Amino acid sequence: MVHTFQPFPLEYLEMDVFKKIGQEWMLISAGDEQKANTMTASWGGFGVLWGKNVATVYIRESRYTKEFLDRQDSFSLTFLDEKYKREMKFLGAVSGRDEDKMEEARLNFGYSMGIPYVDEGNLVFLCSKLSATPITKEHFIDPNIQSQWYADGDYHTMYIGEILQVMAR
Ligand SMILES: Cc1cc2nc3c(=O)[nH]c(=O)nc-3n(C[C@H](O)[C@H](O)[C@H](O)COP(=O)(O)O)c2cc1C
Repeated sequence: MVHTFQPFPLEYLEMDVFKKIGQEWMLISAGDEQKANTMTASWGGFGVLWGKNVATVYIRESRYTKEFLDRQDSFSLTFLDEKYKREMKFLGAVSGRDEDKMEEARLNFGYSMGIPYVDEGNLVFLCSKLSATPITKEHFIDPNIQSQWYADGDYHTMYIGEILQVMAR
């Protein structure tokens, strides 16, 4: 079933970003109508930069989704109801390189402005890529970050995207 979303004015959005991202998680999707990929993320942020409303995500080098994000000039963030937690764990444990994750999870991509998002979601941010910054060892001030998070050398790239549209249902 294809769901109907309504554009939602950003200035009316009230959300607890710490809970929403950190505990409820989100799906980062990128690609085109031929092929898209999605992954679960619990790190990221929303804010204001370069005079724009932006979303920030952090994606490790090893993620298949990163290839799609690097190829395309846009991406989306989808938030889903709690009842999809099992599916989100799955999408965050298996790589699209190895399996058709969406098919297995019985979820579907929808497209708006040519940007893939997860149709079963209830809140979607469509974003246009503004910057991609590899985070490297030299950037850390707290020395624990390197040992705690990057012992395997699988660093994050920080992507900042302008929020083009928010859709809700
Ligand atoms: C709760 C949760 C949060 C995650 N957050 C992130 C994240 O913020 N950045 C990241 O690179 N990977 C994160 N992951 C790991 C990816 O979702 C996981 O490696 C996924 O299988 C990548 O899929 P892909 O290879 O198809 O892109 C998270 C996983 C889970 C379960």
